[in-house]
Amino acid sequence: MTLTPNQLDPLDNPRMRQVIDSTISEYGDQNGALMVVLNHLQERIGFITKPMQAYVAEKLNVPVSKVHGVVSFYSFFTTEPRGKHLVKFCIGTACYVGGASQLIDKAKQVLGIEPGQTTSDGLITLEVCRCVGACSQAPVVVIDEVNHGRVKPSQFARILTEVQKSEVVA
Ligand code: FES
Repeated sequence: MTLTPNQLDPLDNPRMRQVIDSTISEYGDQNGALMVVLNHLQERIGFITKPMQAYVAEKLNVPVSKVHGVVSFYSFFTTEPRGKHLVKFCIGTACYVGGASQLIDKAKQVLGIEPGQTTSDGLITLEVCRCVGACSQAPVVVIDEVNHGRVKPSQFARILTEVQKSEVVA
């Protein structure tokens, strides 16, 4: 889900701008300030846009390329809002061997999006992640922080439909 033209970048939203500024002044002097500030911005705002990255770089006096490098290296950071529900496919060795790619294919087929993308209704974001420590349950899919183990592609389609349905009823 990208920010639509009607959605302001957080920097242009007075309330969010205040959160960004207070985060930078609160943590900007610490050791490893860049990582600490970015972590808090991800937590407080939910994503870190390119203009936000440039702003942080300017305020912390570091090159924009460095900020961009950190944000793009760690999958924890996102440059766009995540959906309401986060579906993560473990692609550690055990899960990969156990069929993670078939699950990803099924999700693509059901939702029409790739890992790293969010459905247009803002409901579901797909991501991949490293080993979540439940290898005996491979393949593992983490939905809103809950591990689902030994998931088969046919079950997985049902799980996704349940997530979608729960929102319609709610
Ligand atoms: S490889 Fe997926 S839980 Fe360990």
